[in-house]
Formats: sequence, C-alpha cells, structure tokens
Amino acid sequence: MASPKSIYTCNACGATSPRWLGKCPGCGAWNTLVESAAESAAPGKNRLSAGFAALAPSSAVQALAEIEAVDVPRTPTGQGELDRVLGGGIVPGGVVLIGGDPGIGKSTLLLQALDALQRASLPTLYVTGEESGAQVALRARRLGITGSQVAVLAEIQLEKIIATLAAQQPAVAVIDSIQTVYSDQLTSAPGSVAQVRECAAHLTRWAKASGCAIVLVGHVTKDGQLAGPRVLEHMVDTVLYFEGDTHSSFRLVRAIKNRFGAVNEIGVFAMTEKGLKGVSNPSAIFLSQHAQPVPGSCVLVTLEGTRPMLVEIQALVDGGGPSPRRLSVGLERDRLAMLLAVLHRHAGVACGDQDVFVNAVGGVRISEPAADLAVLLAISSSLRGRPLPKGFIAFGEVGLAGEVRPAPRGQERLKEAAKLGFSVAVVPKANAPKKAGGELEGLTIHAVERVEEAMEVVRRLD
Ligand code: TYD
Ligand code: MG
Repeated sequence: MASPKSIYTCNACGATSPRWLGKCPGCGAWNTLVESAAESAAPGKNRLSAGFAALAPSSAVQALAEIEAVDVPRTPTGQGELDRVLGGGIVPGGVVLIGGDPGIGKSTLLLQALDALQRASLPTLYVTGEESGAQVALRARRLGITGSQVAVLAEIQLEKIIATLAAQQPAVAVIDSIQTVYSDQLTSAPGSVAQVRECAAHLTRWAKASGCAIVLVGHVTKDGQLAGPRVLEHMVDTVLYFEGDTHSSFRLVRAIKNRFGAVNEIGVFAMTEKGLKGVSNPSAIFLSQHAQPVPGSCVLVTLEGTRPMLVEIQALVDGGGPSPRRLSVGLERDRLAMLLAVLHRHAGVACGDQDVFVNAVGGVRISEPAADLAVLLAISSSLRGRPLPKGFIAFGEVGLAGEVRPAPRGQERLKEAAKLGFSVAVVPKANAPKKAGGELEGLTIHAVERVEEAMEVVRRLD
C-alpha cells in the first residue's frame, strides 16, 4: 500500500509515479520502481537533487586554478591497518560503508576503533540495531575495553538516530547496521532497497552538514554484493570490504572506493581472543604449510595495494562427464574458462571433459590478471599428478594468443619471494631482471614469453 508520503522512482530513468507499477511509465523497464519519501517540505525540488546538493555545498563558479586545494584533516583510528585502507584515518564529514559476511568482525573492528578514538578525546556514538546494549558491553569486555566512554544507542528508527546525533554531536558515529535502520516516512520494510537507500542518503546528508564522520555497516548478500542498491556505494566517500575465511583467523579489509585515499589498498588483521590485531608484515600468511610439494598447488606473488603477498593457488582436475564443472573460489570463473581454452589451444593440454576446481587459499579474492600463470601451472600440475618444484613461485598475465604479459611491479614481487626463501620463479620475460644470470638472492628466475615455454620449463624442472 502506498502511503501519501511516498512516491515511486524509476532506478533507470528517474521517472516518478504516485503508486507502484511493474513497468516504468518513463522508460518501459520492468521492476525498476522503488519507493522513496516524497520531499513535501521543498516544493519544486525533487528528492534526487536534494540528496546530491548535500554532497558538495553550492558556491559561485570559480576557475579551477583559483580554488584552493586543501588537504583533508584525518584522525587516526588507532588501528594502523584500518588507517592504511582509509588513507590515513577518519575524515570529518566523511561517510564510510563497510561490508562483509556475518561474523567476519565488522562490529569488533569498529568498536575497537571507536574506543581508541574516544580515548583520543573524540566524542563517539555507536548505534546498534542488531544487538542490545548489553551484548555490545559483553563484546567490549571480551575485547578488554573497560571504562569506555563510547556512547551506545540501541535504536533502529532513523528519525530518532538523527535526533540523537544532533543532541550528542559526536565526531564519529557508527551505524551497525544500515539494513536495520528504517524511516517512518516510508512504508516498505526495514532492510528493503528503498529503506536502505533513503536512510543512507539521510545519514550522508547529516554527515556532510554536521561534519560528523559516519561509518555505515552493510551486510553482504550470498553473491558478495552489499545488500541494498548499488547507489549506496555511489553515495558514500569510502567503501571497504572485509574478506577472508571465517574459519581462519586472518581477515583482509579492502578499499574498493576512496575519495580520500588510494583504492585497492588492503589492511590485514588477525582475529584473536581479544579482537582484531593488525598484521603489519602479511606477505606469507596465505600459504598453506605442506611439508613436501603436492600436485595442483602453485604459489602466486600477488600485489595487494602497495604490498606484495604470496598466496597459494590450488587446482584439482578430476573425473567429470558430459557437462564438466568449472568452479573457482577467490578467482574469476570466466577467467578460468578462458585459461583452460588457452591451455588447450596453445600448450596442447586438454581437460575438456574433466571437472576443474581452483581455489585461492585463505579466502582471499584475487582479481588481478597476473594470477593467470599460477592458475595455469596449478591446473597442469594437478592434471599430470606431479608437484611443482619446492620453493616455486609464478606470476604473469596470460593472453588469448598464448602470450605471457608482464605484471605491474614485477621486481618488487620477485624481491618479496626471494626474501621469503623461494628458490625458483617462472615469470614474464619483461619482469625478469635485465642482467644476465637470472638470479636474485638465491631465486632462479625463468623468463618466459609464451604459455608453451612455461610448460616446457616446468617439465624440465620435474
Ligand atoms: P563480529 O564483529 O560480531 O562480526 P560482524 O559484526 O561482522 O558480524 O565478530 C564476531 C566473530 O568474531 C565471532 O565469531 C567471534 C569472533 N571474535 C573473536 O574471535 N574474538 C573477539 O575478541 C571477538 C570480540 C569476537
Ligand atoms: Mg555485527
């Protein structure tokens, strides 16, 4: 039922309707109409423009050269690894969206950060919609936080939350989670797309207007998207994702958008008995410890943000039938299909009717194409039933023509592998050191230009 306060806006073209329609009257798209609060107080001004007006305050037209570029002040959160992904710390008026699977440690990390900020004499507010105040206190006790002055509010109604923000004037507020918050102005259920979008927009406007930094906690759906509309990511300044396997103790926090810092920077944490602790030297944490090399395993040197990390890629080629399965965990599935085709066409290695599974150890997600060569080598190792040599690493992008393309910052990757005691590397020619010998502190480097060559090198090393 439509309430008189609601209008329905098309996600695709922005057309509005006073009631819900399956088909948009503007662009004809289906199922694009989403409920939102009608902006009755400001006639002649639609809600969209009201939402965006708050992002950058309107001012007179100026030449770019005349506008002073001011560095944004930042407040460190006391968690070095979190500050690293934030680009140095919390920015006044900045809005951060932090997503991740349930139980991964979002509430833990933010409670620890708020406590540290409060100890640095910043007024803080923790709004909990999922847990009671007592449960939050219990977590604080577990974290060893005692005598904390962090203000806690158990509330899910947007208007009351905004009223508390106005009364308390915190410098940093955490809304845990945005999916539990609802506004009276809308009839749809809490957690619905319309509610999440409207509440996030209100809180963003509040942050910009008041200078209070707001952190929104968002749940992640089964397929890894932040629940709620993508528009949430556009609205906020910074989007952080928690990654990692809840069964292992390591957690990654990745910045996928940051208006105040570098993207694709990562923070690494370990979940301990007393909360999340930063891991400042994380390069070797995603290696499983095999006493002897096993078939189907290849270590990849990946570059996460500014730090190289070694991640074990595992592959299993097995059984199959008329419709073989291709499954990947932590790596892109489309890319896997492409790599199998390249392997067949250019290296003559066929696994057409077999099931192929690949996995990046430790729950890391790897999106860089530099993982290609390690994936290929892991697959061929599993297929042949022969392990790669002890102390083996690889990286490099593989193209459809079977060429092996260089990865960014190859020297740094090689240095990190050498530092950790790896002894054999197969890498793109352009990444290998120029001087003759192909050695780097005990690491023998085999430079390859094509997939066939890489296979040949591995066969020779058998
Ligand atoms: P939590 O922060 O509640 O996750 P989220 O808010 O992302 O859902 O983390 C809960 C998990 O972390 C839970 O499985 C218990 C574990 N944990 C620890 O191992 N050590 C601790 O000190 C705390 C507080 C939690
Ligand atoms: Mg939580």
